[in-house]
Amino acid sequence: KDRQPIVAIDGPAGAGKSTVARKVAESLGLIYLDTGAMYRAVTWLVLETGIKTDDEPAIAELVSQCDLKLTNSQVLIDGHDVTSQIRSWEVTDRVSAIAALPSVRRFLVEIQHQMGQKGGLVAEGRDIGTNVFPDAEIKIFLTASIQERARRRQQDLISQGQTEVSLSELELAIEKRDRQDSTRSLAPLLKADDAIEIDTDKLTVEEVIAQIVGLYRKNQEYRTQGSDLSP
Ligand code: CDP
Ligand code: CDP
Repeated sequence: KDRQPIVAIDGPAGAGKSTVARKVAESLGLIYLDTGAMYRAVTWLVLETGIKTDDEPAIAELVSQCDLKLTNSQVLIDGHDVTSQIRSWEVTDRVSAIAALPSVRRFLVEIQHQMGQKGGLVAEGRDIGTNVFPDAEIKIFLTASIQERARRRQQDLISQGQTEVSLSELELAIEKRDRQDSTRSLAPLLKADDAIEIDTDKLTVEEVIAQIVGLYRKNQEYRTQGSDLSP
């Protein structure tokens, strides 16, 4: 196998996937792939175009013709830099419905497979270990209590100058999205059988990163030792 290893990180909203995955990729020299940003970009495009969010044929057509580009720091769709717009409340509210559409998933998973062909990446989302890269060398399922995840989101909003969003509002919105993501029929949010679950409630970002980097290094050691033993 000449493919570089893949680290798959899944989990519910606010568990710390993006923050942790980005830094793990940086410290290991791997590519960071935020698959949630892809579903958000498509959702932005659907809202921008004015297509009804339940009009699957029209959405399928739109998605199959769109030009989606992800760099380490930017998301571009059809030439628009939507890096900040895809984090809006409207996109966040609609993304789970769009992400449940089979044509949208088929299109985006195809791009994810292309990006992962040579391996060497940290991919983060909801179905990476179960569906996108089921052969990933390292699979992590990040969790935290709903209270902690809402608190983190509130801190993020406060640091962006938005001080008026209540914890209970955030809890409800996060729970609704988790429910939609976990109960859809196609590639729902689910811990892969062979994923290592990390409950991050009482851990700092640095502690979570250290655990994942440690698992990666152990896996690498094992692989090189394994090849030393072969004739
Ligand atoms: O960062 P946050 O947890 O708020 O969400 P995200 O990772 O940006 O993902 C946004 C939405 O995209 C999720 O709520 C899912 O509906 C969808 N998604 C998905 O269906 N499959 C993925 N692999 C990643 C995201
Ligand atoms: O991508 P996901 O929705 O899973 O989470 P995120 O967008 O990375 O947001 C997680 C927030 O919680 C960030 O502000 C992190 O700094 C913070 N946090 C964390 O990710 N992990 C911890 N163990 C503690 C805090």
